[in-house]
Amino acid sequence: MRTQVGIVGAGPAGLMLSHLLHLRGIDSVVLESRSRDYVEHRLRAGVLEQGSVDLLCRSGVGARLQREGMRHEGIELRFAGESHRVPMADLTGRAITVYGQQEVVKDLIAARLAAGGSILFEADVVRLDGLDSDSPTVHFRRDGRDEELRCDFVAGCDGFHGVSRAAVPEGVLTTYERAYPFAWLGVLAAAPPAVDELIYANHERGFALYSMRSPEISRLYLQVAPDEDIAEWPDERIWAELRARLETVPGWSLNEGPILEKSITPMRSFVVEPMQWERLFLAGDAVHIVPPTGAKGMNLALADVALLGDAFAAWYDEGHTDLLESYSATALRRVWRAQHFSWWMTSMLHRLERDDPYETKLQTATLRYVATSAAYATSLSENYVGLPEV
Ligand code: FAD
Ligand code: DHB
Repeated sequence: MRTQVGIVGAGPAGLMLSHLLHLRGIDSVVLESRSRDYVEHRLRAGVLEQGSVDLLCRSGVGARLQREGMRHEGIELRFAGESHRVPMADLTGRAITVYGQQEVVKDLIAARLAAGGSILFEADVVRLDGLDSDSPTVHFRRDGRDEELRCDFVAGCDGFHGVSRAAVPEGVLTTYERAYPFAWLGVLAAAPPAVDELIYANHERGFALYSMRSPEISRLYLQVAPDEDIAEWPDERIWAELRARLETVPGWSLNEGPILEKSITPMRSFVVEPMQWERLFLAGDAVHIVPPTGAKGMNLALADVALLGDAFAAWYDEGHTDLLESYSATALRRVWRAQHFSWWMTSMLHRLERDDPYETKLQTATLRYVATSAAYATSLSENYVGLPEV
């Protein structure tokens, strides 16, 4: 099998790249180890920056997003028994849209297949070869057989646990990382959201986040220990903990309902530099992870491949290598802005160490500053809705 760009991974990064290349007349094949059903139902992020919405709409895959996505012009911060709204749209002129990552994935798969695009599901990439030649090979296993995809370039969009990053020879990449002493327990509940906007809560029992997926479905998160066992969290315990951390404002209460899904996500910050080696270009979670507090993961993945789409087009249309050569440095500027913002939001909102009253006082002072200073609230807002240029 042969194509121009071999893409490993059918997450938001790989699928969007394949779609953008198609619009420029460039062929690609996407290899995905999981089934179509699995990737279309994998529950993950839910907040799209304005720039991501614009990219999806501009490239012709935004019709359902525009119908079903929920535009939010602010967020609420709860701490120390207080509640403050951050009016992001008033402060920045931009907003975010709540639309599940798996919906973005469904829309992109539908668009690729409708255009005759090639996505091979249950194709497990095992090895990349010849990345320093002009004809790299992607080796994969499908239906119990070993197969090969030859291409001009490989795009490694296979997430944190993928194989692409590991194909770079030792000594080329530098890793920057930070582990956090907590995880998120996320639930999807058949309960109408009790609010129109997201609530980020700093509470002495730990962080909680109130989000949503539709007028009938709530999405909620709780800070838990990193080694927490999900079996220890029956539904009633989850609701009791959510009530304790979120019902801190007089007269406000959660809407409860059946819990449809629950899972635990570890938290880490992680960046590998550079994001390219020879003919391998890495994008999304394959090269950088942020803790989810700033809602940046999926947005960064989309921003990376928007750059890659332009870079490959410049090469195939005009033979220019400049955008391919500057891809890593350009993408890393946005990546590090998001790293800082995600670390900052995480540090401000979680219980970091047990019984550290100094840390808690600093958090309250920071949150109060966001609540009272237009300058600080604008800084939070412009990062949250996404900076057009970084
Ligand atoms: P992915 O979506 O991870 O896609 C990579 C794809 O590569 C996967 O489909 C995988 O199956 C495939 N793959 C891996 N290895 C191979 C192989 N060897 N061969 C072929 N295919 C392979 N962000 C937020 O902002 N908020 C959240 O609440 C949030 N929750 C998350 C929960 C979890 C459990 C995880 C893992 C991430 C979460 N994120 C969240 C982050 C966000 O979902 C990611 O940043 C986003 O998915 C990145 O997209 P991607 O395309 O780079 O990678
Ligand atoms: C959601 C996830 C996030 O990480 C976040 O910061 C806000 C919302 C969500 O899944 O809805």
